Amino acid sequence: MEPMNKKNPKIDVVILAAGMGTRMKSALPKVLHPLLGKPMVEYIFDAVRDICAEPPLVVVGNKAELVQETLGEKARYVLQEPQLGTAHAVMQAREVLRGRSDIVLVANSDFPLITAETYQLLVETHQREGNKVTISTVIADQPRGFGRIVRDSDGKIMGIVEEKAATPDQLKIKELNSNPYCFNAEWLWDALDRVEKSAVGEYYLTDLIEIAAKERQAIGAIEITDHQESIGINNRIHLAEATKVIQQRINRKWMLEGVTMIDPDKVFIDDTVTLNRDTVLYPEVYLRGNSSVGEGCQLGPSVILENTIVGDRCKLLFAMLESAKLENDVDMGPFGHLRRGAHLDDHVHMGNFGEIKNSYLAPGVKMGHFSYIGDAHIGRNVNIGAGTITCNFDGEGKYQTEIGENAFIGSDTMLVAPVKIGKNAKTGAGAVVTHDVPDNSVVVGVPAKQLISKRKEEQDGKTK
Ligand code: UD1
Ligand code: CA
Repeated sequence: MEPMNKKNPKIDVVILAAGMGTRMKSALPKVLHPLLGKPMVEYIFDAVRDICAEPPLVVVGNKAELVQETLGEKARYVLQEPQLGTAHAVMQAREVLRGRSDIVLVANSDFPLITAETYQLLVETHQREGNKVTISTVIADQPRGFGRIVRDSDGKIMGIVEEKAATPDQLKIKELNSNPYCFNAEWLWDALDRVEKSAVGEYYLTDLIEIAAKERQAIGAIEITDHQESIGINNRIHLAEATKVIQQRINRKWMLEGVTMIDPDKVFIDDTVTLNRDTVLYPEVYLRGNSSVGEGCQLGPSVILENTIVGDRCKLLFAMLESAKLENDVDMGPFGHLRRGAHLDDHVHMGNFGEIKNSYLAPGVKMGHFSYIGDAHIGRNVNIGAGTITCNFDGEGKYQTEIGENAFIGSDTMLVAPVKIGKNAKTGAGAVVTHDVPDNSVVVGVPAKQLISKRKEEQDGKTK
């Protein structure tokens, strides 16, 4: 019954993610609450990923489909239904892992700050000391509802007592059960059957420690000395505390890479985002998803990027950018909105109160004030006058607008798509353009008509 291969033991990881998370008071399962864009359980998943050869096994129960959908195919799953406690959760993993693993690491899914190094240290300690069980402890004045580590007078671990079951003396113990745990697999699978139902009707994983102690099995412990790591999340206050720590970890990393933050407390960067040196972030900057920012940019105050690529030396002020792309030296704002598919090439200037969707603006385009550009292709150095609108939607379909290079679009022009404005063409202020405009021509009025100069009329011998 002991296939333990000492030299090259097979390690499996079980992540417990079936709990209700009642104290979150949420329709969303606790483990899916995001911290800077990343769901809680993903932090645990990413930190344990390199420990095991096979994908971690996630125990799901409460809103199981939603958890599975979020983690997707990178994990394995087993269902715990109903949820009768942490030992009962590990029991569900037994069916899948029995006879296949030598060591099982069990991790709670509500500790997003525990690092890969700590999980690694636990496994190494477990193997080096040849333990049947190795636990992770933290010494703290604030017990936060954690189980207390009970030791005998020689300092030997005798068990973990849950807060609900602890005596007044045990409640004073400052050595607490943080998690994760490492178990000798075969011992674990057998011992789980010896866990008895607690007074509240749950099977506690932590009871295994007393079971091991009574059998005089080797029990070890690592101490997590960085208290931030052992912030477990049971309610939204803990969620905010942990988010703050993650925010600091990310911001410090980027400051050390040469990014200036005027007030790092007010800068929120997902860990999927990349930045480059000499970029300055003012307060109220949110960089989310697959966004990246080049060198020497100035972002903020008040800028939100979602899945947006920003090149070098761009300046953004009070702006919201979603699934957009900026090349280099673009300046934008105050008060601009780029939506999906907006692509601004080098040196585009977009002043106040503009909106661009699904459009390409070639190098040097200027759009100073109050314009909407949707489904358009705009050539080099075009000037878009104040209040210009591409009327891209007729109530049924969406249509394209094309503007040739060096065109000059007068203030308050309505470009009724589909429509093409030729190179070097001009539209008069207030023009409503319903037909294509040839290169080098001028249109004015409602609906817009071509202006033909006297000289040109004589040359051509005709009028339109
Ligand atoms: C648990 C520990 C406690 C420890 C604390 C912090 C037990 C009995 N107690 O308490 O000693 O100090 O974590 O590490 O383990 N879960 C399931 N199925 C269930 C119940 C829970 O998958 O039936 C999952 C939860 O989703 C969660 C984890 O197990 O990720 C821990 O459950 P939770 O209810 O948060 O345990 P605590 O009361 O915090
Ligand atoms: Ca917990």
